[in-house]
Parts: sequence; structure tokens; C-alpha cells
Amino acid sequence: MTMKEYVKIAETSAILKNQMQVFNVKGQEILVVNVDGTFYAFDNKCPHMGYPLFFGKLEGDTLICGFHNAKFNVKTGTPLDQVTEKPLRAFPVKIKNSFIFIEFESSAQG
Ligand code: FES
Repeated sequence: MTMKEYVKIAETSAILKNQMQVFNVKGQEILVVNVDGTFYAFDNKCPHMGYPLFFGKLEGDTLICGFHNAKFNVKTGTPLDQVTEKPLRAFPVKIKNSFIFIEFESSAQG
């Protein structure tokens, strides 16, 4: 059975405006992006061929993968060109007491 829980990632001050950073959450790499003070979280794997999005770059609210230059809208996760039709895999983000939390699904045994 899968359970949803909010997992604390970092203080909001750990990711500067218009920067991104990778965190390891229960063995999975999560990319947290700060666009003008709003935080978004994604699976760090590019939906195109699975390479790490962290090696790409952020231009405004567009995330550009560093491998084949697929472009995605950070706010919606939608692909913006023909490289891939698959959207970014996003995780809901919640800010509480200056900490970033993401909603994470974990499988529980029993
Ligand atoms: S792996 Fe990201 S564009 Fe190909």
C-alpha cells in the first residue's frame, strides 16, 4: 500500500532565488527549483531519457535539460518543444515555518 506524507526538505533560505538544488529524499533525487521565491519540486530525472535535470539551466520559469535541451515550464511541468512530450514529474510543495516540504509517496509494508 502507498502512503502520502510530507517530507521536510530544507530551509527556504537554502535555495537562492532562481536557483535549483538536488536533495536525496528516501533514496530518490528531488530537484527543488526557486522561481522568484516560489518553490517547485520535481523528480531529478528528465522525462526524455532520464538524465539529471540538475545539470541543466533555469531561465526564468523555463527549465532546460543539459543533455538534449528539452525545455519545460517549471510552473506547469509542461514540455515546451518537440524533444519530449512527457511532462516533468512534479511533487506538491508546502512551506511551513520557513521550511520546504514535499508530498512524497512511500510504500509501506504490511
Ligand atoms: S535527457 Fe533531458 S533532454 Fe534528453
